Amino acid sequence: KKITFDYSGATPFFSQHELDFLLPQIKQAHEMIHKRTGPGSEYLDWVEWPLTYDREEYERIKQISTIIREQADVLLIIGVGGSYLGARAAIEMLCPAFYNQLPRAKRNGPEIYFIGHHLHSDYIAQLLEIMQDKNVYVNVISKSGTTLEPALSFRLLRDFLEKKYGREGARTRIIATTDRKKGALKQLADLEGYETLTVPDGIGGRYSVLTSVGLLPMAVTGIQIDEVMRGAADGVELYREAELADNSAYQYAALRQLLYRKGKTIELLASYTPSLQYVAEWWKQLFGESEGKDGKGMFPASIQFTTELHSIGQYVQEGHRHLIETTLWIEESAVQVTIPSLEDNLDNLHYLSGTTFHEINEKACKATIQAHVAGGVPNLKVSIPEASPYYFGQMVYFFQKACAISGYMLGVNPFDQPGVEVYKEEMRNLLNQNQTIITR
Ligand code: PA5
Repeated sequence: KKITFDYSGATPFFSQHELDFLLPQIKQAHEMIHKRTGPGSEYLDWVEWPLTYDREEYERIKQISTIIREQADVLLIIGVGGSYLGARAAIEMLCPAFYNQLPRAKRNGPEIYFIGHHLHSDYIAQLLEIMQDKNVYVNVISKSGTTLEPALSFRLLRDFLEKKYGREGARTRIIATTDRKKGALKQLADLEGYETLTVPDGIGGRYSVLTSVGLLPMAVTGIQIDEVMRGAADGVELYREAELADNSAYQYAALRQLLYRKGKTIELLASYTPSLQYVAEWWKQLFGESEGKDGKGMFPASIQFTTELHSIGQYVQEGHRHLIETTLWIEESAVQVTIPSLEDNLDNLHYLSGTTFHEINEKACKATIQAHVAGGVPNLKVSIPEASPYYFGQMVYFFQKACAISGYMLGVNPFDQPGVEVYKEEMRNLLNQNQTIITR
């Protein structure tokens, strides 16, 4: 079994020769990646990473995660953007829906909370409130080590931990994931003697989920990271083929580009399970930050079905026709819930007795695709065999490779993000400071 890609829901919207015209561009994009000849090529280490990753650091991830799982009631994960969304995507997809509420004996690790991804004081204060009586560990993640949101949260948490446990106690509870050499966080970690993990030089934030950035938080919740990396390593081989016919990641990239050029400027990632909400957030960052530049790029948005069929579904069916829909479907459900057979039939639902929710969800997915295609929305479908660590790894690699190919076909550098600096500069001016520095 592997991830499959089906574009039959898009074929009514183009002719074969249009796809054929793209073949040389796909080959060119493939070579730019594999021969490292394109812009941003210094950030291509993610391409072979599932095969070449640092084994020594990987063992340390496992050791640190074992200590945290044994000792901590809570792991606070501080980070934003690429230093946050991948770990959250994995945890939400692979851990039980109500993970933090489960009794400790039924959980494979401590409670997990995220902070450092916004500046809202109520959230921060309320989170600290529930930390008071817990044994707290912190994983602060920032490649640059200077991003304001996580740096401020870390300043606050460091103060909190030092007051709670003393400086030495705080030191043993902080793990910093950051650049190998540079940045304020690295300097601080060295000065204080924190355990450190590395964001590799040649991998940008949004391509870093398969490094320590994502792997430590995953391992702390008991997610089998060996399986994640095995899935990703198989992804390297599956999506290495230069030929479009043999490479479903390239087919996805090519179809996006083809439809974008025909005026479909918005892509909705549609999922049918709430556990994929943060996979969608991770995907939005990956594609939005990689492609949205030079006045170009498909706008990535996400939609949660069947929930939003009862709200924004109206727009998808009949609104402005600038949309494509990419369905992210999980083929198997881990647990089956069957519609009960009741003595009465007051709700007129007896005809569904004995059917599982998953089977009905499957029909909802099929019906929605048919309806939206008929309504003028091309559909691409990515099917994941099951929500497992292995397929999480393979899916990450599928989208990363597709994104890089799509970005090069679009004619942008998919590995930089010059635009995110603009608001930061404006904010620094308003805060009357030229740079954010963490000082002791
Ligand atoms: O993809 C990226 O490079 C960004 O989204 C970063 O991950 C994000 O801005 C966080 O940066 P840092 O890890 O340096 O704190």
